[in-house]
Amino acid sequence: MRIVSGIQPTGNLHLGNYLGAIRNWVRMQEDGECLFFLADLHAISMPHVPADLSANTREMVAALVACGVDPDRSILFNQAQVPAHAELQWLLNGTARMGWLNRMTQFKDKSGKNREGASIALFTYPVLQAADVLLYQATHVPVGEDQKQHLELARDIAQKFNNDFASEDAPVFTLPDPIIPRDAARIMSLRDGSAKMSKSDPSDMSRINLTDDAETIVQKVKKAKTDPEPLPSEAKGLEGRPEAANLVGIYAAMAGMDVDMVLADFGGEGFGKFKPALGEMLVEMLAPINARFVELRQDRAALDAILRKGAEKARALAAPTLEATYAALGLVRG
Ligand code: TYM
Repeated sequence: MRIVSGIQPTGNLHLGNYLGAIRNWVRMQEDGECLFFLADLHAISMPHVPADLSANTREMVAALVACGVDPDRSILFNQAQVPAHAELQWLLNGTARMGWLNRMTQFKDKSGKNREGASIALFTYPVLQAADVLLYQATHVPVGEDQKQHLELARDIAQKFNNDFASEDAPVFTLPDPIIPRDAARIMSLRDGSAKMSKSDPSDMSRINLTDDAETIVQKVKKAKTDPEPLPSEAKGLEGRPEAANLVGIYAAMAGMDVDMVLADFGGEGFGKFKPALGEMLVEMLAPINARFVELRQDRAALDAILRKGAEKARALAAPTLEATYAALGLVRG
């Protein structure tokens, strides 16, 4: 089992990232060989401030380690220190089809009305993402629901490449399976139950950052958008109530309960009772992560050393697949 996943270092690690992906990363460290990386090459697909990208990259390492990603057990690195990611992307550009990329909903969302002004990197972003996982022969990729389409594309690229350039009994690439949590696969914004919780939302009130202090968490939960009805006593009563469903879903995911169990406790209660309980639970569960993050972020040399060591191991693991790809394409390498 080879487990590979990434996160963009474009801002704070938030509760959506944690419940949708990072918690699974931490758990899967028990199951197999893991590579987790900061998708800094992906981060340049949108306008960005270079100094912020460097700072966010280090902060994200601190946040991941604070969450339980163990750099002694897993390989933790950033793409920019493993050139094989960018190289393999180019090699896969020959296989990926315009029509496939045209269907990607993330490109449509992120480019918005300004399609002509979007960067080429934003358009070819999913091919780099395919390279990220195919490079290491990943078998399992723990992600939130929003990355499912990109993972399907990675499988399509792998399959076409194998068909076109490899023999059936010696495929170049393994087809990766996405691992998406049953609950909490899509945590929504605290301000709008129809938008996902996201690092790029301009309102910080829309998300709980894993680095928020206790007071901020309580305030954000208190101000979260809700409706005037009390909570129902069964999950189906949450239909058509996206904000209420989101808060109950967060409670359930954090507490390791199912939604019906939460509603057995809170059904009939208003948000005046539920929100403080949710705030308190979040504070209690995130406090240790926060404390560890505050400590780790201070030691820049140690964070850089983690990335350097991780990149060295990743480069070694990437080399055979990269060479096999060059060879399959008939490219001469000395
Ligand atoms: P990114 O940085 O947006 O998010 C990192 C992980 O968090 C999950 N996630 C969520 N899950 C539930 N609810 C939410 N509101 C929510 N928001 C984010 C994402 O699904 C993701 O698992 N393109 C990727 C990074 C990437 C990658 C890869 C992932 C680059 N290469 C290869 C896997 C494999 C991204 O931008 O994730």
